[in-house]
Amino acid sequence: MTRIALFPGSFDPITNGHVDVIRAGLAMCDEVIVAIGQNPSKTPLLSVDQRQRLIAEIADDLGGAGRVTATAFDGLLVDLARERGAAVVLRGLRDAADFAYEMQMAGMNAAMAPSLETVFVPARPANRHVTATLVRQIAGMGGDVSPFVPEPVRAALSR
Ligand code: PNS
Repeated sequence: MTRIALFPGSFDPITNGHVDVIRAGLAMCDEVIVAIGQNPSKTPLLSVDQRQRLIAEIADDLGGAGRVTATAFDGLLVDLARERGAAVVLRGLRDAADFAYEMQMAGMNAAMAPSLETVFVPARPANRHVTATLVRQIAGMGGDVSPFVPEPVRAALSR
């Protein structure tokens, strides 16, 4: 049986922390679908198309050989999981603030889809401080984001 994990998020942009979660997913599952969803509380910087292209480029670099794909969705995560036959949802955890929010989402998703398991991946210490929101802010003010994001993202943000 092919074990499929969904890794949902805004990915605006994808960061080194997100890449760690994809790597963890590849260690646990056969396929990782990076699912670009809508977070109504955030104003996007990159278009969904740009985010999807960047993720696809980085997925190739991860050496997943087709094991990592990127898709956009605008409905409920549990519906996408059902459509794609995913058994696992991956989310990264950096700190206690993440934990409170993630537990709420995991609980709501579990109530709607009891067989869907959320797996939390703890951030590596080197990436514990990295957030896409701060990357957007630094890039917007002309700062160097290369310590926080993969090279294709740095290049895209500098344009
Ligand atoms: O990286 P983010 O912005 O924290 O990601 C949030 C995201 C996109 C994973 C979340 O908003 C989501 O799952 N949206 C899809 C709609 C949905 O299923 N909402 C109910 C979640 S309990």
